[in-house]
Amino acid sequence: MTSTDHAPTAPVGSSALDDPTPTGTVRLVASALVGAAVSVALGVYGRAHSPTGERILNVGAVDTLTMKAWLATGLIVLVATQLGSAFWMFGRLSRLGPAPTWIGPLHRWSGTAAFLLTLPVAYHCLWSLGFQDRTTRVLVHSLAGCAFYGALATKLLVLRSDRMPRWAVPVAGAGLVTTLAVIWLTSALWFFTGLELPPG
Ligand code: HEM
Repeated sequence: MTSTDHAPTAPVGSSALDDPTPTGTVRLVASALVGAAVSVALGVYGRAHSPTGERILNVGAVDTLTMKAWLATGLIVLVATQLGSAFWMFGRLSRLGPAPTWIGPLHRWSGTAAFLLTLPVAYHCLWSLGFQDRTTRVLVHSLAGCAFYGALATKLLVLRSDRMPRWAVPVAGAGLVTTLAVIWLTSALWFFTGLELPPG
């Protein structure tokens, strides 16, 4: 989410390969395993820790849940920026011309801002609410919340590793975008509309 190293139009020392070496494949698998370990660790903590049920982040008249729902919605805007800038860097928006030089920094900074925005929200989720499974929506949300940080760890490792397959960064980025979309659909959308997604 935070680098352009493997983008074809912004090759900052690019070392992505169409034909990855065994070392690249081993690093890719190791990155995925680290991400899986992060996700599982968060889930285990969320389950083992007794939820405090307390509210944090109350600012003036805005309550915690409203603030979380709006922060999560802000995240979606940043993620859309991430997606658009990534498509442009990877030459998928060639109708707009070549990717400008500011697109890499925009991608990095919107990614960093998105990560920072997740922290207070996920902190409240994990600390106050914990890992819950009382409905399908809540279970899917808890799983996606844990998966998000695992996907982020994998993406950051993939970005910083040499000799990765060319598809590794886009796939890792797609994983992040997907988990965040699921998080929003199962939390903020429900908060604003009462819609249970998935039903159950
Ligand atoms: C990027 C990470 C996350 C974001 C943006 C996020 C966002 C939200 C939002 C906006 C809500 C609705 C407001 C509320 O009920 O407090 C919510 C609720 C909740 N979150 Fe998260 N969350 C994240 C991660 C997690 C994680 C890691 C867990 C647990 C492992 C989790 C568990 C829950 C639970 C149990 C609820 C209550 C659902 C309900 O009662 O309907 N969340 N989350």
